[in-house]
Amino acid sequence: MTLHIRTFEWGDWDAVAGLWEAAGSSVLPRAEVEGTLGRTPELFLVAVDANGVVAGVVLGTYDGRRGFILRLAVDPGRRRQGIGRELVAALETRLRALGCPRINLFVLPDNPSGLRFWQSMGYLPVPDVVHTKPL
Ligand SMILES: CC(C)(COP(=O)(O)OP(=O)(O)OC[C@H]1O[C@@H](n2cnc3c(N)ncnc32)[C@H](O)[C@@H]1OP(=O)(O)O)[C@@H](O)C(=O)NCCC(=O)NCCS
Repeated sequence: MTLHIRTFEWGDWDAVAGLWEAAGSSVLPRAEVEGTLGRTPELFLVAVDANGVVAGVVLGTYDGRRGFILRLAVDPGRRRQGIGRELVAALETRLRALGCPRINLFVLPDNPSGLRFWQSMGYLPVPDVVHTKPL
């Protein structure tokens, strides 16, 4: 089935939340998406099929120095059909257009399909140690 990659619209929210839940990701608070993450709305993308069903989602950010990708998820029944690849390729095109020279992302070590996917897209592990502190 033909898929169309387009910018997220708020009417997609319930479908996007469902995709994140099905992928085992927490659903980002709507206020967070509307606020900081919404500064570059063109980096929030969905893959929509010919029936208007949202089959995949990815959220990108750009802070002026680095791009960041988070919350990539494809409908579990529609994986290995190239949807993830198309979403990330479209996001890379949009980040490049903003002047972004490099993209970072996190993958959990217990996510073998995620690790294989990102490697297939040319994203390589770096030895940096992630540091974090709750405020
Ligand atoms: C990771 C994920 C987004 C991939 O989406 P997808 O649409 O199935 O991926 P694609 O079909 O575009 O796969 C592209 C390539 O990635 C690799 N790949 C994807 N899934 C894979 C898997 N389960 N095992 C091995 N390689 C895999 C393959 O090289 C694949 O190319 P091929 O099918 O021609 O061999 C999807 O599995 C998913 O939603 N997972 C749960 C959420 C998640 O882990 N997100 C990423 C967190 S960082």
